[in-house]
Amino acid sequence: MVIRIAAVGDVHVDEDVVGRFRPALEELPDCADVLLLAGDLTRHGTEAEARCVAREFGDLGVPVITVLGNHDHQCDQVPQVVKVLEDAGITVLEGTGTVLECAGGRLGVAGVKGFGGGFAGRCASDFGEPEMKAFVRTTRESADALAAALLSLECDSLVALTHYSPVPDTLAGEPLEIYPFLGCYQLGQAIDSAPTALALHGHAHHGTERGTTPGGVRVRNVAHPVIKQAYSVFHLGDQVD
Ligand SMILES: [Fe+2]
Repeated sequence: MVIRIAAVGDVHVDEDVVGRFRPALEELPDCADVLLLAGDLTRHGTEAEARCVAREFGDLGVPVITVLGNHDHQCDQVPQVVKVLEDAGITVLEGTGTVLECAGGRLGVAGVKGFGGGFAGRCASDFGEPEMKAFVRTTRESADALAAALLSLECDSLVALTHYSPVPDTLAGEPLEIYPFLGCYQLGQAIDSAPTALALHGHAHHGTERGTTPGGVRVRNVAHPVIKQAYSVFHLGDQVD
């Protein structure tokens, strides 16, 4: 049996985007069991933009699960944004997880926004000024929350959903200088600490679609500018795409 997962990130919805995704989204029940959104739903994280997201991604006929991105934090209206999304039936994860009963089995999704920090040999370290230590602490706490959420889920197939990238592979195409602001190795370690089948992220608009964690988990950058379609569909189970 197969679980079908549709995913997209970085849709950056405002008034002018409403309606652009909807025709493809209406077809979701035919091709997917769930839609996962990898953050940056809005441009600047306002409540008004969140209402546009709710119009575009609400009432789809399949469950919708999301994490927020850095853009969704820009206007310091996260509680309002989360409430608008949840009122529209969208599940918002942040260091938490959920299990869905699908025809192909129980799907566990653990999500966290994540944070920057960089990758092995080229990363921020917990040393020096308090600001630097706070930065790295944020990275560490985010990754720890993802690991705990992944390990807490009783399911047949496990997916990690983040905004920031857990690996450098899917950043290829972005300037090397900004890799530390696009993701961190600690998220990859978290994903590898659990029996994760698939890791999905966004944030890297100029990155690459496919990557792998050091532990062999397949990673997909589903940022809309990368996948260039309303969503990609991944199959978990007997069939491997
Ligand atoms: Fe982002």
